[in-house]
Amino acid sequence: MAFNHKHLIDITEYSADDIMTILETAKNFKQVNERRIKKVPTLKGFTVVNMFNEPSTRTRSSFEIAEKRLSADSLNFGGSSTATVKGESLVDTVKTLCSYKIDCIVVRDRWAGVPRKIADVSGVSVIDAGDGKHQHPTQALLDLYSIWEEKGDLAGLHVGVVGDIAHSRVCGSLIPALKIMGCEVTVVAPPTLLPARPDILGADHVTSNLDEALPELDVVYMLRIQRERFEGAPYPNLREYNLLYGLTEQRDKLLKPDACVCHPGPINRGVELDSFMADHPKRSIILDQVYAGVLVRMAALYLLLGGSNDGIDA
Ligand code: CP
Repeated sequence: MAFNHKHLIDITEYSADDIMTILETAKNFKQVNERRIKKVPTLKGFTVVNMFNEPSTRTRSSFEIAEKRLSADSLNFGGSSTATVKGESLVDTVKTLCSYKIDCIVVRDRWAGVPRKIADVSGVSVIDAGDGKHQHPTQALLDLYSIWEEKGDLAGLHVGVVGDIAHSRVCGSLIPALKIMGCEVTVVAPPTLLPARPDILGADHVTSNLDEALPELDVVYMLRIQRERFEGAPYPNLREYNLLYGLTEQRDKLLKPDACVCHPGPINRGVELDSFMADHPKRSIILDQVYAGVLVRMAALYLLLGGSNDGIDA
């Protein structure tokens, strides 16, 4: 297995082989997560700093669980309890943490580009856990993993990415990742929630008509409206948005019989996704995505940090 990356910041730096290596490794970690003792000594002696300067439920908790299950030591750091509120710069903060001889920084920040800056000044492995409206590569990997498990393959699948494309870091990584793996991608959004250059993301088709797009899709990936990232509403009201762009019980009838539904979370129920679809026993793989978050983050930490194989195949 050749895997020569130090950082996971930009998914476009990863080839289809690199991504497949991560997905296969994540699948191997499934058996660790299904044991009574869910722990291997793979990263014993490694220290990982989880620097979350923006709120998170799924990403933060699954990184912490992944680190614990690999026996790494975790330091959870960030937000208003740090000396940044006293004016300490990002670079000084990172250099301070690196003085402890840490091995990896997992970072979420409201500013795009912060993970790359940390990689430039720290010398340790950096994993982007979501930066501004830019990228969220481990989210894309767990999405690919969940779709791969559900469908058995990725190449040739037609995936629709629906909703707030303009403010979404999820699609900043997901759409390029789907293209790297050979999927056909249709972006569906109101014109006011499309970026100025939607072609930059690499989607094959762009439309504002959800009802026309749905019957063609194997996977429907619904995005949350990122209300925290803009002022004023780029749609008349949330009810109107739900009528035009929500995945509702009514629209279930437009889907292929085996189409599945994804969402990165957190869900705005009744806005982009009705509870009927979010909790649909056959279509929704949203909680599978959450579980895949642990597997993929274990895989990424293991591959980036070059831990031992002890206990993985036992
Ligand atoms: N999908 C995602 O990034 O969720 P959190 O904000 O809860 O981490």
